[in-house]
Amino acid sequence: MDKLLIEGGCRLNGEVAISGAKNAALPLLCASLLSAEPLCLENVPQLNDISTMLHLLGDMGVAVKPEAGGLVLDGGGLDNPVASYEMVKTMRASILVLGPLLARCGEAKVSLPGGCAIGARPVDQHIKGLQAMGAEITVEHGYIHAKASRLKGARICTDMVTVTGTENLMMAAALAEGETVIENAAREPEVVDLANCLVSMGARISGAGTDVIRIRGVERLNGATHSIMPDRIETGTFLCAAAATGGDIRLTKTSSAYLDTVIDKLMDAGCDIVTERDAIRLKAPERLKAVSLRTAPYPAFPTDMQAQFMAINAVAEGVATIRETIFENRFMHAVELMRLGADIQIEGSNAIVRGVDHLEGATVMATDLRASASLIIAGLVAQGETLIDRIYHLDRGYERIEYKLSKLGARVKRVK
Ligand code: UD1
Repeated sequence: MDKLLIEGGCRLNGEVAISGAKNAALPLLCASLLSAEPLCLENVPQLNDISTMLHLLGDMGVAVKPEAGGLVLDGGGLDNPVASYEMVKTMRASILVLGPLLARCGEAKVSLPGGCAIGARPVDQHIKGLQAMGAEITVEHGYIHAKASRLKGARICTDMVTVTGTENLMMAAALAEGETVIENAAREPEVVDLANCLVSMGARISGAGTDVIRIRGVERLNGATHSIMPDRIETGTFLCAAAATGGDIRLTKTSSAYLDTVIDKLMDAGCDIVTERDAIRLKAPERLKAVSLRTAPYPAFPTDMQAQFMAINAVAEGVATIRETIFENRFMHAVELMRLGADIQIEGSNAIVRGVDHLEGATVMATDLRASASLIIAGLVAQGETLIDRIYHLDRGYERIEYKLSKLGARVKRVK
């Protein structure tokens, strides 16, 4: 199993390009299930989660062809609307095939995802929404069996804001008969990216980016070409790494447009940030100031940046309180950060982080994707060597991270 060896103490300096967003790419790949014509996606990140999704779509009959700078997905041969437990257990986002399969094939059999490291993560809202659209759904032997000769538009109000839930229902509604209204919809930029692509495919969607999305179903969708938005979480992670190491970096092929709360917090921490149209420059002070935060659905502070901010607060001046409101068990990185010398106290969904002068390298274990990112940031500032085990989590969501960090001057290498 690969590990990452980091020799701490380098300031990050220089320029690096940000990849396409994983969380936009995954639903966009599933959009190929909605049409018998090819969908061409550009700026697709090369990640293990993307390979897993392509494998899953391939099993269903979608033909995938790489083309200059992108991927062409042809759903013309879709004939097997099944997502097995083997697939879904490795990647929960596989649930995103449920809505499109049901809408296009009239049936779907998709494994129920189990719990995961950061919480129970049920999919009841996806199921309830599809039932409201007339689907007959049973859960047997760990599988969701869904049937509907044609889904019917409905008014759906989700109990909580759910990103993949909104995306699943929006895709299903695109081919339903009549109008669907999703209330309490997720406003995440990735939902908007998906809606834009669906509109290019002929869908009639308005309100994406607000908490009420209206979808007027059409009989069929056509092919389209769509370029995937930049990864705002990868962008935020590199900004945090530069901030923690007292660095000076410029990130290209990205935008500050979806990162207001993250950029505000980094400025509160003392960073100097200049945003350009397609780039962001950050210059860090000698020592950061502690910044408290509370995670919540977009446009508030993203839960996917919580772990990285815990790492920067670990070495900042002062005390920060971090409150996690989305997932019930998303502080697993705290214990690993403490192995490097961080002073963190967990009280329910709050973490109190008292900044220390320095961290010391040690062997630590990555527990999930963003936890891995926080350990890298801590490893970059720690004195001596940090060895991060189980970095397969990292490969799910960060494209060539050791290459990008090395380009910025970090001493990082992958060891077998
Ligand atoms: C997506 C992101 C993930 C991010 C999360 C929150 C993708 C592929 N993943 O995950 O990176 O951390 O949003 O921003 O886009 N819930 C239910 N029932 C449901 C659905 C959700 O109880 O049917 C709960 C979840 O357990 C969680 C909360 O709602 O507590 C939000 O989850 P959700 O927005 O659905 O997360 P994902 O879409 O899985």
